[in-house]
Amino acid sequence: MKLDNLRNKKLKEWILEVAELCTPDSIEICDGSQAEYDRLSEMMVQSRTYIKLNEQKRPGSYLCFSDPGDVARVEDRTFICSKNQIDAGPTNNWKDPDEMKSILKGLFSGCMKGRTLYVIPFCMGPLGSKISYTGVELSDSPYVVCNMKIMTRMGEAVLEELGEGDFVPCLHSVGAPLEEGQKDVSWPCNPDNKYIVHFPEERSIWSYGSGYGGNALLGKKCFALRIASVMARDEGWLAEHMLVMGITSPEGEKRYIAAAFPSACGKTNLAMLIPTIPGWKIECVGDDIAWMKFGADGRLYAINPEAGFFGVAPGTSMQSNENAMHSLAKNSIFTNVALTPDGDVWWEEMTEEQPEKLTSWLHEEWYPGCGKNAAHPNARFTAPISQCPIVDKAWDDPNGVPISAILFGGRRSSVVPLVHESFNWRHGVFLGSIMTSEKTAAAAGKVGELRRDPFAMLPFCGYNMADYFAHWLRMGEKEGAKLPRIFYVNWFRKDDEDKFLWPGYGENSRVLKWIFERAAGKAEAVKTPIGYIPEESDINDPPNLNVSGDALKELLRVDVNDWKKEIPGIKEHFSGFEDRLSGVLWEELKALEERLNK
Ligand code: OXD
Ligand code: MN
Repeated sequence: MKLDNLRNKKLKEWILEVAELCTPDSIEICDGSQAEYDRLSEMMVQSRTYIKLNEQKRPGSYLCFSDPGDVARVEDRTFICSKNQIDAGPTNNWKDPDEMKSILKGLFSGCMKGRTLYVIPFCMGPLGSKISYTGVELSDSPYVVCNMKIMTRMGEAVLEELGEGDFVPCLHSVGAPLEEGQKDVSWPCNPDNKYIVHFPEERSIWSYGSGYGGNALLGKKCFALRIASVMARDEGWLAEHMLVMGITSPEGEKRYIAAAFPSACGKTNLAMLIPTIPGWKIECVGDDIAWMKFGADGRLYAINPEAGFFGVAPGTSMQSNENAMHSLAKNSIFTNVALTPDGDVWWEEMTEEQPEKLTSWLHEEWYPGCGKNAAHPNARFTAPISQCPIVDKAWDDPNGVPISAILFGGRRSSVVPLVHESFNWRHGVFLGSIMTSEKTAAAAGKVGELRRDPFAMLPFCGYNMADYFAHWLRMGEKEGAKLPRIFYVNWFRKDDEDKFLWPGYGENSRVLKWIFERAAGKAEAVKTPIGYIPEESDINDPPNLNVSGDALKELLRVDVNDWKKEIPGIKEHFSGFEDRLSGVLWEELKALEERLNK
């Protein structure tokens, strides 16, 4: 399509404005077709950004290695530029929007020289859904175009549906202009000068310097979480860092649950789990983000705004996640995994036996025992959700799916039991607000450190988190609301020898079964000071769980003294929000303290 033929006036004007600022050599409006995808992919093979993988082994798939300085989301370079700093809150980086705009205008000035400006119209959510929203990304990266084609509904149909309507403008540049005759590098970026910036009041995104993942695929974290969380607050819905899955019981009853876990804590594995308990079925709606709105019946309906998986590759295997392995068997993009001599991909733990020789993500020769990673710990696959063997038939349903239970969780080697259920919505919001997890490689920083990650939204909430908690509390007060029950799970508890007590993966279906039955009002529970927990026999049902009786006891143990030791940390966490924090959460904390002291 030609620029002149664009119907949307705001879009046309914005493209022209950006072109004037960034001075690209050309402008291309993406139609989202396979032919376009193939052409850009071939172009990237020619420019050595891409390696085409062996067509027999991994049809239609490509590998690329990023710059070693551009491998993960950069939270310290991510900004929420609301007019008032207090509206960004204590957990976000903030700069005055005018000041930030002037920095960005300086950086973006001429930044696309020698490159093409791609116009990427995309829809977050099923086309035609009342829950979906449109965005347009302007990017100088063909890698971004191809990833956006997999990760979103992208191209002409979106423009068609948009008509003269409004959209979220998402501007992206790798920040690497090319001088006349300058040869491009395989992964252009500006590693020392990254800015991932959100303007919540005008609902716009500017991203500079990175070509990687959530920094560059702006539909994902920047729009579907940071900007959408602001929209959701203003409009009375929820934009959450949650997987969505369907669970069907042996009797054929189906329920959907949504679950929030911090990055790289197993959301993708849980979303595609193969149950070990007979007769139960899991189907996947999404593995990372859920948008939820109340339906006319008072229930919360969720859509997956994405159309693909941008999953962490290392650790993914036929044992840990067979369905993900099938999803990425073809038509996928791999970033920072290793290349095998026969033109396929490999990463740590993909197979039990390590290949004899590989090219690592750093382009170096790799062999077992060489002491280096073959794949970067945050290496990713981009794969279409439609290729998932257990994709739910409603994954693209404009109505969304009704949610019966919400799960929170994180990596905690101690204190937090395998599962507990909140007493009510308010208490559930309290549980979400105090979530803690050990840090992973999904973001730059020290792996293993404990950090508070409320609702798994710490890096993704586009406004003051205290207001976000209040928004969740308000959602629970909506008249006629039939709210999901709220649970907290922890698959990562360890014994004294630092070994995981719980086998995880498919065995998590035992916990899901209890949750399903609680949501159906069928299962019993034991009341403890922190919430309801199952009996050991509820988890060991059928009774062939390969976990010792002692380990199961430990997994479900609520140690009052350990929990008392959590209180000062929660107080400190809450105090950080000063008087913006809802008194309800302080009341919940007081109530917890009283229950523990009884
Ligand atoms: C992701 C993340 O990529 O949370 O999903 O970092
Ligand atoms: Mn995520």
